[in-house]
Amino acid sequence: MSLLPVKQLLASETTGHTITVKGWVRTKRESKNAIFIAINDGSTIHNLQAVAEPGQFSEEIIRLVTTGACVAITGTLVESMGSGQKVEVKATDIHIYGPADPDKFPLQPKKHSMEFLREIAHLRPRTNTFAAVLRIRHALAFAVHQYFNDNGFFYLHTPIITASDAEGAGEMFRVTTLDLDKLPRTDEGAIDYKQDFFGRETNLTVSGQLEGELGALALSKIYTFGPTFRAENSNTTRHLAEFWMIEPEMAFYELEDNMNLAEDFVKSVIGYALEHCADDLAFLQNRLIDEEKAKPQAERSPMPLLEKLDFVVKNDFQRLTYTEAIDILLQSKPHKEKKFQYPVGWGIDLQSEHERFLVEKHFKKPVILTNYPREIKSFYMKQDEESSAAPGPTVRAMDVLFPGIGEIIGGSQREDDYEKLLARVQEVGIDPATIWWFLETRQFGSAPHSGFGLGFERLVLFVTGMSNIRDVIPFPRTPKSAEF
Ligand code: 4AD
Ligand code: MG
Repeated sequence: MSLLPVKQLLASETTGHTITVKGWVRTKRESKNAIFIAINDGSTIHNLQAVAEPGQFSEEIIRLVTTGACVAITGTLVESMGSGQKVEVKATDIHIYGPADPDKFPLQPKKHSMEFLREIAHLRPRTNTFAAVLRIRHALAFAVHQYFNDNGFFYLHTPIITASDAEGAGEMFRVTTLDLDKLPRTDEGAIDYKQDFFGRETNLTVSGQLEGELGALALSKIYTFGPTFRAENSNTTRHLAEFWMIEPEMAFYELEDNMNLAEDFVKSVIGYALEHCADDLAFLQNRLIDEEKAKPQAERSPMPLLEKLDFVVKNDFQRLTYTEAIDILLQSKPHKEKKFQYPVGWGIDLQSEHERFLVEKHFKKPVILTNYPREIKSFYMKQDEESSAAPGPTVRAMDVLFPGIGEIIGGSQREDDYEKLLARVQEVGIDPATIWWFLETRQFGSAPHSGFGLGFERLVLFVTGMSNIRDVIPFPRTPKSAEF
């Protein structure tokens, strides 16, 4: 007996030998001459079919073989006469590890809504759709590490618990061991954080960037890939309170180098998925085509999933400045016809409807927007020289916008001038004392450097063609939801 995953068994070049397959029953179908059991172990989207003769096994055993039950089936691997699979197993022994009462097991072989599946996140990895998403998620994570390793980057582990707010947006989850019912107070009546675990206020990180910069200013090229946390009350299909971010940071890179890296990097990891996840992507593509049949033509994706991914890998991203983008929006039909919900004008923070117009309607491809107004971007971005092209001060920011997703990457060249950075920190109201170590890198061997952050779930969302970010992470964390 040898135990191989279903994926390998299905690819067997030889037959006639005894094998054991272990996994979960997807379906059981009984005909007069045979009982067909489809088994899946998560190694692939495909099932291995086991065939049993009626009367060969006790009724009790066959009764327990139901959708969701965990079984081990031993038998001879034979060429399959049925269509759809090359090989199947002629069962000689069936062992039930764990039955699944068909009256209670919620995952029956029929269509379940994504909303319902979110309520049973402990079981949803056993559906074809989620297992496919999770395998693709794995492949993309692997491709991320491979890409950076191949390109001379070092994986830097930045802290999860920090005392600083990297984005300066104040969307942090507090970390404390203080007793909330008996908070210690100072003489002035404020909460006495000196008595807290770290002797100061701390929070879960919103980004590993600030520490990433410290790494880049020593190792030249680093990346982080870890969980980040944002306590923003955004109940959208694109936001999670806990998500994974990939943040490369490179010494001696200017904005243009940063854009080149971002574009090459996303194309490379999407290319990896195309190459290594063909079966799962084909499954998700068909699922999407099915889903979209119910939608009006105008709301359907312009390209099937695989074609869309291939298109992104093979075409240059459109690069333009924020100022140019605003001009396009001001000239656009939806603006002139007052179809945008939010006003357009230089200085606005682009809303998702604006980004989608640029990407999906105007350019019809991924877009990199650069040189945003200073006032709407983070304090650490490098300030541009005054230019007549823009009506106000800008920074060397870059956002990569994707069809159907909006912002997938945010990044910039960093301010490497100590005086300018300090002035900006004070201007936006950050206490310099809380990031003295960050400021100090600009006093000792400062260097031009750049980096960006890719929201991993937004990438998985794009690659899988799923429509809600809650369905591309195993256990989503969103406002009022942290069950599993
Ligand atoms: O644009 P953001 O806020 O940039 C940063 O955090 C920088 N420190 C990155 C850097 O330069 N090193 O976030 C980066 C990306 C976004 O483009 C988006 O893809 C993703 O992180 N993101 C989220 N994904 C899911 N849920 C959320 N709430 C997200 N917020 C940001
Ligand atoms: Mg951003």
